[in-house]
Amino acid sequence: MIQTVDINIKTTQQTRLAEVDFNNIAFGKHYSDHMFIADYLEGQWTDFRIVPYDYLRMSPANATLHYGQTIFEGLKAYKGSQGGALIFRPDMNAKRFNRSAVRMCMPEIPEEVFLSGLTELVKLDAQWIPDRPGTSLYIRPFMYAADEYIGVRPSDTYRFMIFTSPVGGYYAKPVRVKIEMKFVRASEGGIGAAKTAGNYAASLYPARLAAQQGYDQLIWTDSKNHTFIEEAGTMNIMLVINNVLVTPPTSGTILEGITRDSILTLARDWGVKVEERKVSVDEILEAIQSGTLQEAFGAGTAATVAHIQAIGYQGTDYELPPVEGRKLSLKILKELEDIKHGRAEDKFGWIVSV
Ligand SMILES: Cc1ncc(COP(=O)(O)O)c(C=O)c1O
Repeated sequence: MIQTVDINIKTTQQTRLAEVDFNNIAFGKHYSDHMFIADYLEGQWTDFRIVPYDYLRMSPANATLHYGQTIFEGLKAYKGSQGGALIFRPDMNAKRFNRSAVRMCMPEIPEEVFLSGLTELVKLDAQWIPDRPGTSLYIRPFMYAADEYIGVRPSDTYRFMIFTSPVGGYYAKPVRVKIEMKFVRASEGGIGAAKTAGNYAASLYPARLAAQQGYDQLIWTDSKNHTFIEEAGTMNIMLVINNVLVTPPTSGTILEGITRDSILTLARDWGVKVEERKVSVDEILEAIQSGTLQEAFGAGTAATVAHIQAIGYQGTDYELPPVEGRKLSLKILKELEDIKHGRAEDKFGWIVSV
């Protein structure tokens, strides 16, 4: 049960629903009618409100624009098979958000504000949740430094907001990924585990180079020697080697994915052997060559499971076994999608229904 907080609600005079072609939704292009806002002033979160979606007015000297003190989350609401909206593990996003806040020197937001704001907003804009297979309502909570101040120091004031966006499928096809051996996303002691803008900004240039070489995504490697794999652009990486589900540990340089955690929980529950441990690039190449690498996929909110079709390393592409034979990742994908849409038993209490 989510503890509710008082939220002042001002609804729109004119819904924009008709502007969206729900049969053909682009990712990240449409925004629902309303947004949630809370302000942090004089050391307190105040003024919880839902208002019509609108642009922000901001000083050119806003600290976020220059120094990047900002964090965000991403999760989804699904149209339930019995109607209504189902949100997948929002409490995990609230907790991760606050871990990011601590690392970025920002105030934590009470979990009940995060969750009440989110559920009230989804309830109000429930008509924006698409219902074709693969579609959902993407939810974007974020917080930014609000001080009008030029100088490197934590802001005194902040704004927390949530808006939502109807989305279609993310990766329709299995992806080709490149193992990145030059650039790094995060290093030990850095901000890799925080969901903060700088991590994504740093990834743009290497990702563009990889795209120019024909890859959909990168797999980052450790910053010291490029020996061990870390994660992909917006996904954690999972492999099935010799019937064992293997994934790198959450040791501070990768994002602690909620899909990752959900998959490991399901797999352990099914009796699958799971290993959270360092995985070297050499181990992957050897497993491909000896035929023991059975499956490889990215795990994240956007695609849930994105099958990896080929891995590029130092100019050579290694093709992986066909997706049709990938028993475990196909079973995981089906089970998670069924839980998210209310078609399978919610054994772990992951679904918040609004
Ligand atoms: C860098 C990064 N890694 C992993 C993930 C997967 O996390 P989740 O499963 O919580 O979406 C994401 C997506 O949020 C991400 O941005």
